[in-house]
Amino acid sequence: MSTVFESIRYLVPFGPKEVPHFFTDVLIIGGGLAGFRAALAVDPNMSVVVITKADRWESNTAYAQGGLAVVVDPEDCVQNHIADTCEAGSKLCDEKVVEKVIRAGPEELKRLLAWGAQFDRDGSKLALGLEGGHSRPRIVHARGDATGRELVRTVLSQVEAAPNIAIWEHTFAIDLLTADGECRGALVWNEEHGKTLIWAKQTILASGGAGQVYRESTNPEIATGDGLAMAWRAGAELQDLEFVQFHPTVLYIAGSARHLITEAIRGEGGYLVDRDGHRFMFDYDPRGELAPRDIVTRAIVAQMAKTRHPNVYLDLRHLDPDFVRTRFPGMVTICAEFNLDLTRDQIPVRPGAHYFMGGVRIDIEGRTSLPRLWAAGEVACSGMHGANRLASNSLLEAVCFGAWAGEGASRCAQPLEDHYKALPLSNSRTVTPEDKLDLLDISNSLKALMWRNVGVIREEAGLAEAKKQIEYWAQYVLTRQFRTPAGWELQNRLTVAWLVIQGALARRESRGAHFRRDFPFADDEHFLRHIILKRGEGA
Ligand code: FAD
Ligand code: SIN
Repeated sequence: MSTVFESIRYLVPFGPKEVPHFFTDVLIIGGGLAGFRAALAVDPNMSVVVITKADRWESNTAYAQGGLAVVVDPEDCVQNHIADTCEAGSKLCDEKVVEKVIRAGPEELKRLLAWGAQFDRDGSKLALGLEGGHSRPRIVHARGDATGRELVRTVLSQVEAAPNIAIWEHTFAIDLLTADGECRGALVWNEEHGKTLIWAKQTILASGGAGQVYRESTNPEIATGDGLAMAWRAGAELQDLEFVQFHPTVLYIAGSARHLITEAIRGEGGYLVDRDGHRFMFDYDPRGELAPRDIVTRAIVAQMAKTRHPNVYLDLRHLDPDFVRTRFPGMVTICAEFNLDLTRDQIPVRPGAHYFMGGVRIDIEGRTSLPRLWAAGEVACSGMHGANRLASNSLLEAVCFGAWAGEGASRCAQPLEDHYKALPLSNSRTVTPEDKLDLLDISNSLKALMWRNVGVIREEAGLAEAKKQIEYWAQYVLTRQFRTPAGWELQNRLTVAWLVIQGALARRESRGAHFRRDFPFADDEHFLRHIILKRGEGA
């Protein structure tokens, strides 16, 4: 493994006398569904600080479209949902975790409803959508395709009403603080106070995913994998980072932002066709458009190559236009911005990085391998998703593990006596100039490289080339000291990209979302296991 990623513990210099100190019982890094749900699970007599790097509404959660998978239909059952999840996960799901989450789903849903969540209904019953890999309709959604926004509204309204919870917006977590092998809070930065040390009895990492490591991605700008990189530097174990989910249908219009076109469209009967109008999915899988995501994504990539065309098309022209407009109002608006009518035009789509199955390794209660650090949501790897996440299982996992991590952190914070003590931690890296580096240029080059060499189809030579290039960039980017988030984000992106490649090189087989052209089949004998990365210990 390269030394620069191994050797750097903190990204910036700090000393206890130079920066303000702040104390809280529980610190939560991230205010998406996982972070806010965790905050609400902490004992109301304890102080909680939630920090978000943008405003409180900006997160992957806020963009979620399809919905939340949960067993509520009497004709459905927990066993079906478990079986579908494990089937998609290609033998790497932890069945105990899958069962715990799926059984907890209805209770979490009830709580969200009690907090005022307005999900779509069919008469008095919740309306249930269908998505790829699910054997039954079980996706609860809101305002058609605006589920994420409604979830944020719901949990945020509770958080804002809780006197023990403070939200620090536009505050960037640079690094986790560790002493004696335990997490003791975080070093954060904001415009108003500069660097600040937040000392916490227990810390919960809920900082979401890292789609922005790739050129084509459904994720918003904030998804730069800071939490993964921070946890790595702090010495926590990371697991399964090679499993990156590429969503099959991202609107592809040159020059436009890459908007997700929800899978629920295929659940309602939308077709995928190629440039010649051929409905090709059945050439690849008997489940057609509703095969699990990894299969649909690879089929699209193959069909694009076969037809020598940069995209395929979603075709809804056979569906009732009024139904399409009511069920997918957000998609109609997005398409209209590009003069496309979702009900009458074929919509150009192709895959993009969407979700990280891997993450900071946690146990069934949300504990990481680093004492006093918990993790929940997309930054974590609980074993729920295995090698390929089933559609709409992410919000379910985020809400459940958010609750468990919050409860666990709250329980463990109570008896500790030493919380209002600042520790004599410092970091004295030499300050190097930060000018003359075009951060955007490096970032774009990194994203293009990752898309080309570490994307849907991988092989040894491309992975090795990407690793070498990233190690070269890291030599001068990781060793610099930046003063604003753009620099730290680039350092984090490079770290995450490098870690994904470590996993992808080590897994010399194809499984779930990880496809190696040079090892095109699953190899249960050698790889029915997780790949764990830890600073100083290799893969
Ligand atoms: P997020 O919601 O991403 O929240 C992360 C938080 O961490 C943010 O508040 C951010 O500001 C903060 N943060 C990050 N880094 C730092 C830092 N350095 N310092 C301070 N704060 C930081 N899943 C489903 O199950 N169903 C769906 O329908 C669905 N649709 C999706 C559609 C889109 C377009 C996308 C992108 C994802 C979708 N997903 C869906 C996936 C799902 O939305 C996410 O996996 C989930 O919301 C993650 O929640 P989270 O709380 O872990 O993280
Ligand atoms: C979608 O709506 O297609 C996204 C659902 C998910 O990521 O689970």
